[in-house]
Amino acid sequence: MRRKIVAGNWKMNLDFQQADELIANIVKELNQHHRKDVDVVICPPFPYLMIADYEAETNGYFLGAQNVSIFNNGAYTGEISASMLSAMCVDYCIVGHSERRKLFFESNKDVAEKVNRLLENDVKPIVCVGEVLEERENGQHFSVIKKQVSEGLFHLTEGQMQQIVIAYEPVWAIGTGRTASTFQAQEIHSFIRGLVLEKYGAETANEIRILYGGSCTAKNAKDLFAMPDVDGGLIGGASLKANDFVTIAQSF
Ligand code: 13P
Repeated sequence: MRRKIVAGNWKMNLDFQQADELIANIVKELNQHHRKDVDVVICPPFPYLMIADYEAETNGYFLGAQNVSIFNNGAYTGEISASMLSAMCVDYCIVGHSERRKLFFESNKDVAEKVNRLLENDVKPIVCVGEVLEERENGQHFSVIKKQVSEGLFHLTEGQMQQIVIAYEPVWAIGTGRTASTFQAQEIHSFIRGLVLEKYGAETANEIRILYGGSCTAKNAKDLFAMPDVDGGLIGGASLKANDFVTIAQSF
């Protein structure tokens, strides 16, 4: 049975003190309520990984980064390598978020490279896919997602694929308050699982965890997570409020 997972993507938010308080509050509240069958991942900005690391790891939660370099090491000013993340006890790393695809021109090929670097360093990739509004309105969402999944991931072996978490984040739902319906989420999640089934077989398809992201809140998480192919969420705005994030983490 797949373990449930909820990850908070803080994006580039909060000052040091706010970050320190948020992580402390999340951990405190989780410790009061937390169900042990849910993996909780906290993905703060790079400079706050250290504080989050101590709080999260000592309490049984996971630490995630939001990005990684395609390079191993060397003269790449400003980049952060997968081995550095691994040395910081980072367990997961978000790859190919739509903000990085759009604003920093990350391609599916870049996603594939980043996934490789992470797996080489025992960090689990959370690979984001999703269509923009125009693609959905034109009925292209299935083909867009198929391309993102296959070009980003289908070079992996079966064993590697089982380390991957996929996050379906329709771009039109991110930060807009326009959440995908439970039908839309389930339809795409089951489509993605079907792609994995076709390529890797039933065991991997049953193992792989697929998260929903995009205006997922304390109010709508329960309905979304009740869908059979939705294994949890990748949470943006609502992960910046301890109460909301902890409620979401318990919405199974
Ligand atoms: P929101 O939850 O703010 O819509 O963001 C989702 C997201 O981009 C998580 O990676």
